[in-house]
Order: sequence, then C-alpha cells, then structure tokens
Amino acid sequence: MKKFTAYKDVSQAEDLVALAKELKQHPFQHQEFGKNKTLGLVFLNPSLRTRLSTQKAAFNLGMNVMVLNLDKDSWSLELEDGTVMNQNSQEHIKDAAAVISQYCDIVGIRTFPDLKDREADYSEQLLQKFIKYAQVPIVSLESATRHPLQSLADLLTIEEHKAKAKPKVVLSWAPHPKALPQAVANSFIEWIKESDVELVVCNPEGMDLAPEFIKDVTVLHNQEEALKEADFVYAKNWSSYENYGEILAGHENWRITADKMQLTNKAKFMHCLPVRRNVVVTDEVLDSEQSLIYQQAENRTYAAQAVLLKLLGHE
Ligand code: CP
Repeated sequence: MKKFTAYKDVSQAEDLVALAKELKQHPFQHQEFGKNKTLGLVFLNPSLRTRLSTQKAAFNLGMNVMVLNLDKDSWSLELEDGTVMNQNSQEHIKDAAAVISQYCDIVGIRTFPDLKDREADYSEQLLQKFIKYAQVPIVSLESATRHPLQSLADLLTIEEHKAKAKPKVVLSWAPHPKALPQAVANSFIEWIKESDVELVVCNPEGMDLAPEFIKDVTVLHNQEEALKEADFVYAKNWSSYENYGEILAGHENWRITADKMQLTNKAKFMHCLPVRRNVVVTDEVLDSEQSLIYQQAENRTYAAQAVLLKLLGHE
C-alpha cells in the first residue's frame, strides 16, 4: 500500500479488517516495524478521536509521533501555483509538504471541505497537492469527500457484531443545525457496499449523496420503510450535495428515536461521533445496549494501526 486516502488504495479490504482484528488481540506485536520511525499528523480542522486513536496506533507500533495543528500553529497555506504571494497566505503547500515529509516516514492530514464550491471540494485540491509534494506515504485523517479510517473501523465493528452472514445496514440522514461534510457518509458507502451486506441509504428529498458514491445503492426517501428489519442503523447528518453545502431545516422527524429502532430487527446503532445528543439521535438510543458508538471509537485505534503497519511494509 502506497497511501491511504480511499477504498481504491487498498488491495483487499477484508485482509485489512483481519489485520485490525489481530492487532486488537495483540496490539504490541510488530513493534519492529515502527522502531525509529516517525508519524506526522497535520490537522487543518478539529479532532478528538482521529487525533488520539491514530497517535495510540502509532505508539502501539513503537513509532514516534509529531502533531501539527496547521490551522492554528503554523503559516496559512497557498495552494495555487505561480501566485504572487503578497496577500494573506504565507507558505506554499509545495514547501510545507516537502519540509514536513522530510521529518516523517508517514504523514496523516485532515482537511475538511469549505462546502461553498462543490467542484473544488470534490477535486480534493489540498489533499492531492499535499500528496504531490510530499515524499512519504500519506494517510487521510478525513478529507473533503472521504473518511477512510472511520469507514475501516466501522467495517470492523459491523464484522464483530453481525448476527447473520448478510446483515441489512441502513445509513440514515439525521437532522443537524450546522452544515456538515458528506465525507463520512460517502466513505461509509464506498467501503460497506463492497462487503457482504444489504445496504440501504435513506434521506429526505434533495439530500441525495453524490452519484459517484451512491452508484447502484438503494436510496429511499421514507425513513420508516428503510428501517424495517435493519440489523444496523448508522445515523449521520450531511449537508446537501445538490444545493451544495445547504442545510435542510424542519426535518426533526428524521431524528433516530427508540420508537424508530422498534421498526428494526433489534438493530445495533452506530454513529462516528461527535454527536449532538437529542438532535441527531436521542439519549435513550445512544445509551442503550444496542448502541455501538464506543466500540466504533475503540476500533479507530486498530483500523489506524493496520493502515500504518501496511504502510511501514508489513505484507
Ligand atoms: N469520528 C471522528 O473522526 O472523530 P473526530 O472528528 O473527533 O476525530
């Protein structure tokens, strides 16, 4: 594996899940791969789980870790080539990526979309330029359109908790007061649809995800119909792809409640966190026996560890 930014970067996702499972049992094996190696984590946006779980994964492998909050503690980046940099940007991404990668053996980067210009966001300009100018493997810590470390952890969580060979997995849009990226939902679809599940996506009219991610996945605009006989319910808000970046007000009836969970096949509940309690989903569901939110967060460590180990050369 040369980089980890999307499903296509991985040759066999099930092998990566198996490796993550093995590392969960024996987290400190393979420290010979990380000894005297350095992971750099570059954040242009906030994070709790990704920041800590990826550091923990690196420590488990015996790596050193450096974290840079580039948005707060460093120079503002220029992305365009040939610009006369006499305005606000202080450092060109070409120089930043080249220099950071001199200090590191692997670099992780988090870069959210601005949700204003769909074409710019979906071209993943910042991530692609960073990859171009860095001399080491790059791991996405969530980009404008994908969150692959989250998806790998989610795949592992479903694998661990499924009670039948081919479970029904429902990804449901849920309400939220702010405009959120589509990355978690896009990425969940990209990874989960390749595994042995019946995947259904449900969202209100006007909130369909990008065709390049949905492809032939079933999309329903009736949440109650979608939830019937579900084995897993994954709730997530996303802003509109069609009316790019707009939020959908007045759809509080899409909140996941205990009554809605009654429609399912005693489904497990999933959310990537952070979650706005009693907006996206009620406390009753989040704190129920069916909730897997902390198991997903725990699995972030082993998903990241499997990815780092592969990038360090483990066969
Ligand atoms: N799920 C997730 O990526 O959490 P953070 O944004 O806190 O890293």
